[in-house]
Amino acid sequence: MTAMAKDIVIIGAGGLGSEVAWTIERINAAAGEPVWRIAGFADDDSDRNASTFAGYPLLGSPSIALKRNPEASVFVAIGENSVRARIVGRFPDREFPPIVDPSALVAPSATLRKGDFIAAGAVVSTGVDLGSFVIVNARAGVGHDSLVGDYSNLCPGVSLSGHTTLGLFVLMGTNSCTLPGVVVGERAIVAAGTSAFRNVEPGTTLSPFGTLKI
Ligand SMILES: CC(C)(COP(=O)(O)OP(=O)(O)OC[C@H]1O[C@@H](n2cnc3c(N)ncnc32)[C@H](O)[C@@H]1OP(=O)(O)O)[C@@H](O)C(=O)NCCC(=O)NCCS
Repeated sequence: MTAMAKDIVIIGAGGLGSEVAWTIERINAAAGEPVWRIAGFADDDSDRNASTFAGYPLLGSPSIALKRNPEASVFVAIGENSVRARIVGRFPDREFPPIVDPSALVAPSATLRKGDFIAAGAVVSTGVDLGSFVIVNARAGVGHDSLVGDYSNLCPGVSLSGHTTLGLFVLMGTNSCTLPGVVVGERAIVAAGTSAFRNVEPGTTLSPFGTLKI
């Protein structure tokens, strides 16, 4: 007997939202039967004249969309870490499943948590502990025994060496990397294309033009 697909609402009708929808379509195709049914997108700022986004209904604001879909799971597809956290906090009773692209490699000894997004081609290696609502975007790699704090965002192509520690709300820009054992503090930013060859203090930006206090 085939199980019923579960409804899911994607919050965030933007680029990341379209990537999450694509990933869900790939999960369904790989399973050979629908695992998820995308009820639609919720967004406070979506174009009020549009009725669809990425081929799915635009359901209005998150509060309205979730009221109309009381049983649906939710994925918050917003790249800005603090905004993602604020929206999650508005719906404490919802189920936020992790969404993992079928092409991603996740070691059996790695731990994923609710609301995580593991995109196409990502690799999450042995002994990794990912917090909740973490984005591991396309082709990013999380090296063995790394710890990633809740609400961190690893942009495409990021490469974390083994035993890296990221605090909460860290932004690793596209194609940035860490050397083994590096600690990146809470709410720090590593600029796109930048190597974190030493620890990064909380609340600072490491960039090719120096370390800035945010
Ligand atoms: C480092 C960063 C946070 C700085 O942002 P910002 O404070 O708004 O800085 P600005 O965009 O005003 O740029 C300031 C200067 O640094 C340069 N610069 C910005 N980011 C840079 C980077 N990653 N590498 C090299 N130079 C960079 C800009 O060209 C600019 O130079 P200029 O003063 O000569 O014109 C941002 O550029 C960055 O790298 N963010 C990562 C975001 C990302 O990867 N997103 C992908 C989403 S999937």
